[in-house]
Amino acid sequence: MNVTLGGKKKHFRTVSFRPDSNRVALIDQRLLPHTFSLLETENFRQTALAIRNMTTRGAGAIGATAAYGLAQGSRAFRGKSLECFELHVQKVFQVLADARPTAVDPVNAMRQVLAAMAPGTTVAEKQELALRAAEVFADEDVEHCRAIGQWGAELIRDGMTILTHCNAGWLAFVDIGSATAPIYEAQSQGKQFHVLCDETRPRSQGAILTAWELAQQGIPHHIIPDNAAGHYMQRGKIQMVITGADRVLARTGAAANKIGTFTKAVLAKYHGIPFYIAIPLSTIDWETADGMDIPIEERSEEEVLCAWGRPQVKGKKGTGSSEKSIQVRVANPSSHALNPGFDVTPAELITGFITPLGIIKPTELMRKLKGRS
Ligand code: MRU
Repeated sequence: MNVTLGGKKKHFRTVSFRPDSNRVALIDQRLLPHTFSLLETENFRQTALAIRNMTTRGAGAIGATAAYGLAQGSRAFRGKSLECFELHVQKVFQVLADARPTAVDPVNAMRQVLAAMAPGTTVAEKQELALRAAEVFADEDVEHCRAIGQWGAELIRDGMTILTHCNAGWLAFVDIGSATAPIYEAQSQGKQFHVLCDETRPRSQGAILTAWELAQQGIPHHIIPDNAAGHYMQRGKIQMVITGADRVLARTGAAANKIGTFTKAVLAKYHGIPFYIAIPLSTIDWETADGMDIPIEERSEEEVLCAWGRPQVKGKKGTGSSEKSIQVRVANPSSHALNPGFDVTPAELITGFITPLGIIKPTELMRKLKGRS
């Protein structure tokens, strides 16, 4: 994705690796949209922390970060004993896997790295294979998103308004994004359309990240309050919904995505509006049989009770100041909050999955995709 900094366009990946210093480089998403900067993690524990504290976030991005984190942790091992190395790698895997529970991409990505390391016969060989495999995962993530864009763009027609929820854009992947890929591809084909971004409280990834991305890309859009989608659907103002997902069950077609997705899917069904979910193959969980068994992250109540932002500069409506973000208490001081990070949308509400291998009905995921990831 190209970011305009100081008037110049520059290409960035959300996640990349510095082999010489053994560091993972991440766009620090906690500072957007006000400040664009990179943060480098020095070891696998810092990398896991960056996933947990949402320096980097989004299923594909944390998948690639975990893959690089596993390579980083493997490469930090000193010694020749394969047995000690395997124990160390298992620990690194677990620390990274535990950083966030709902998205399946980190575990799928790290399993891919482990499988690639298996043929190595020395520690040095395995370390080398780990880094190569992490790079392969990151490159595949980009290619999958590109292919999603090609398939999904066919669904977009001139004059449409598309609703999206949270951020399944290039910040949520290594590049391009899943839900945004068809949007970017349709733009490059010269189609004219409009995007509505759900604000996505409590962390506001739609208002902060998706809107920033779309603005960088010059896509006409508006941010809408989370509760406004039904209103616009009822008035015929939304023709299609495209979201991403953090875990899709191949056995049933149920999809876990950012809290509020289920509500939008119910509304779309009621109004007869197509509801698509765009995913790379790393988002597929081949084993879990029941959507209610997907682990749902419970986040801090502070996110619901408070809001964060930069003070508005007087006389400069719409711009943030250069000051640091501040936290303000919004809710009643004596009240507590509940904060589930994700919800599960059942297959019957999903029109189709936009995948790198085509647009697939929820009930056909296993048959059409098994063995192709
Ligand atoms: O909590 P986040 O920001 O990591 O949540 C992930 C998401 O942004 C969404 O659920 C997204 O739609 C899927 S990630 C491609």
